[in-house]
Amino acid sequence: SFLEVEKDPVTVLVTGAAGQIGYALVPMIARGAMLGSDQPVILHMLDLEPAADILEGVKMELMDGAFPLLKGVLATTDVNEACKGVDIAIMLGGFPRRKGMGTKALISKNVGIYKTQASALEQHADPNCKVLVVANPANTNALILKEFAPSIPEENITCLTRLDHNRALSQISEKLNVHVGDVKNVVIWGNHSSTQYADANHAVVDVGVGYKSARELVANDHWLDSEFITSIQQRGDAIVKARRLSSALSAASAACDHMRDWILGTPKGTWVSMGVYSDGSYGIQPGLIYSFPVTCEKGVWSIVQGLNIGEFEREKMDDSARELIEEKGWAYSCLH
Ligand code: LMR
Repeated sequence: SFLEVEKDPVTVLVTGAAGQIGYALVPMIARGAMLGSDQPVILHMLDLEPAADILEGVKMELMDGAFPLLKGVLATTDVNEACKGVDIAIMLGGFPRRKGMGTKALISKNVGIYKTQASALEQHADPNCKVLVVANPANTNALILKEFAPSIPEENITCLTRLDHNRALSQISEKLNVHVGDVKNVVIWGNHSSTQYADANHAVVDVGVGYKSARELVANDHWLDSEFITSIQQRGDAIVKARRLSSALSAASAACDHMRDWILGTPKGTWVSMGVYSDGSYGIQPGLIYSFPVTCEKGVWSIVQGLNIGEFEREKMDDSARELIEEKGWAYSCLH
């Protein structure tokens, strides 16, 4: 009706916005895929000085999109200006992994970047700003951000493993020849890296008259305990090989899924995977940013408790935690 009051706009920061994921993500945000079709948004796009022209071009295209929800666009290379008043920060920017570059070298390049951006968020963002780190190594970048933005609540700093979660749903749907929307409750445990563990033990499939266990339907334990896990661990590499570029549209879409479910809530009976700070659940060292199954309600995530963990699962979950502890050590050694 004419009397409907429009919601106040939400300000969303996208760093590294001139890159591939940014180009896929900003129109999704402008169309309401992240925050809902009734939520006006103001976009702040940040990138480095050499990408200033590209960023300006993306801004021109966003304006030409004439998106009814888009109430403003800022394109800037000034991190402080970019962080001003932001409610949501999507961190795509980081030092990219070069061929043959190990995680240790990648971390040393990213520590400085994430320290600077954390300080800018700390000073200029809304105190309740929600942060999603996408740039690799995502979990450890998020950990650095958390350390240097101490006034942002620690539960507000997360990293993306929804991409892996969605990849797992897709693999199961393909295997069973069912629609991907009928599969739910896989779990991605740990790091967004090749040590992550895609766990299908609790996954279920909507068969029309209720839910059935995905493991029972797949009826191939060997596939679920080996190829399924490794195909998801290596999916990013497979995409780089095919596209000669990292995944971008699927990463952007997963970032929208992550924020939408976090803010608007997960559907009843459904959980998703998010990299969040560990409170010690499932014996994972407190303080690590680790991917857990979570449900969300009114902008608050909670780790799903009480899932049965066997010996096989335990070992895989601990392997990924060990890797994150090692990454944390490298990150801290760069700080001192
Ligand atoms: C992915 O999972 O597709 C990316 O994290 C891969 C990468 O290293 O860019």
